[in-house]
Amino acid sequence: MKTNHLNVVIAGGGSTYTPGIVQAMISSRDRFPFSSLTLYDIDEARNDDMFEIIRYMLKKEALSKEVALYQTTDAQEAFTGADFIFSQLRVGGMKMRELDEKIPMKHGLVGQETCGLGGFSYGLRSIKGLLEIVSYVNQYAPDAWLLNYTNPETLVSEAVRRAFPEVKMLNACDMTISIEETIAANYGYDRKNWVPMYYGLNHFGWYTSIYDKSVDRDVLPEILERLEQERLHVADFNAGDDTWQEAWDMMRLMTKNFPGYLPNNYLEYYLYPNRTIEHTNPNYTRANIVMDGREKNTKEMARKVREQEEGEILDFNFGEHGQYIMDMAASILNDNHDRFMLIVPNKGAIPNLRDDAMVEVPAYVGRTGAEPISLRFAINDFHKGLMEAQNAAEKLLVDAYFEHSYQKALQAFTLNQTVYSADPAKQILDDFIKANGDYWPELN
Ligand code: NAD
Ligand code: G6P
Ligand code: MN
Repeated sequence: MKTNHLNVVIAGGGSTYTPGIVQAMISSRDRFPFSSLTLYDIDEARNDDMFEIIRYMLKKEALSKEVALYQTTDAQEAFTGADFIFSQLRVGGMKMRELDEKIPMKHGLVGQETCGLGGFSYGLRSIKGLLEIVSYVNQYAPDAWLLNYTNPETLVSEAVRRAFPEVKMLNACDMTISIEETIAANYGYDRKNWVPMYYGLNHFGWYTSIYDKSVDRDVLPEILERLEQERLHVADFNAGDDTWQEAWDMMRLMTKNFPGYLPNNYLEYYLYPNRTIEHTNPNYTRANIVMDGREKNTKEMARKVREQEEGEILDFNFGEHGQYIMDMAASILNDNHDRFMLIVPNKGAIPNLRDDAMVEVPAYVGRTGAEPISLRFAINDFHKGLMEAQNAAEKLLVDAYFEHSYQKALQAFTLNQTVYSADPAKQILDDFIKANGDYWPELN
């Protein structure tokens, strides 16, 4: 494996997350020596805005000569010679996200980017886009590592598992990092000392222990106790973002009613759909917040760079997101065997769950890829039942994608754990077929 002068491609280069990732790449150059960065996107205007911003960042860090920066909408040009690919597509963009969130709400159900039926709508779009990227990697850079965080992670990784089982790919989500960072910041811990035990599907899991090396014990019981007493406040990296405050408050409610485990905050959509519907404005959802915030900010940064404005130009803060990706890439490159939460085929990791479920568990990462741990204990019936039903729904949706099956899609929509009746499931499926048009496979 090449260890120097690495060529990196960001697929979905125009993503608003790109500056955070590049910032992490810059500060990790000693562990991850890259000498070229290519932004690949199907949207030339977004890619070009990002190209200007990243060029500015590299210049500011005096790296313009050491790092060659490219942008392209041509897949062959982008992927040929790549060593690492970071993938962050949003097929259909924020406009389609807005519909994913608003259409289910019209029928009285949860509307969310990755959870519930909004997540299923996004899933059928995203599978198509991501399989395309994987096929390019297969064709033009078969030895490259693909680090994917394109959502909805369980669905896209299930589709890739079926279509390209041999691809060198890691699927990761930053949510567990955000949960840990937020708890650590609120209660005075350093998560670098933590060895957490966690299992679930993506955005659908539980911590069972958090071993803290600095004090040589499991600190989860005391964290759960504090959660009962004290509100968890939004950490600095999400400051001013009320959506996250609501998420942490819901996490506390779940911990109170289902004690003994720390749940992923996203479980609120499955366990308390009524409450999440109550605190969501159906006319102004998360997509609107992001379009009016992060997207506008990014355009504004690009404008300032183009017009060579003086003063503070860079304006972004994505917490650990970029660092997490960089840490994984560096762990592969340097064969570190650092531990990350990854989405992998179960294959016995959770002993009493089907082997072919895509699950999220801790894994060690090195040159040969991910080595997931085995829990070595059976999960309880409550978690198992929830996971099995949701996993079956997700499997059916991926079947629907490959088989072009309306019937499987309807079964998937009905079985989704946010859905109480086949009536809204069918209405929403039919609305989504119209709204998604060619973004979706044809369903017969
Ligand atoms: P964004 O809309 O800002 O950026 C996505 C980019 O992808 C856009 O520039 C778009 O033009 C491009 N794109 C769309 N379809 C494409 C295709 N077929 N080929 C190449 N490029 C394509 O979105 P964002 O908010 O930055 O999020 C990007 C992705 O990262 C989403 O899937 C989001 O859900 C995901 N995400 C995942 C995690 C995680 O924990 N796994 C965390 C953050 C974001
Ligand atoms: C977390 C989740 C991601 C999700 C993101 C949404 O990071 O782990 O999977 O995409 O939140 O953030 P946004 O600001 O786009 O709503
Ligand atoms: Mn995630």
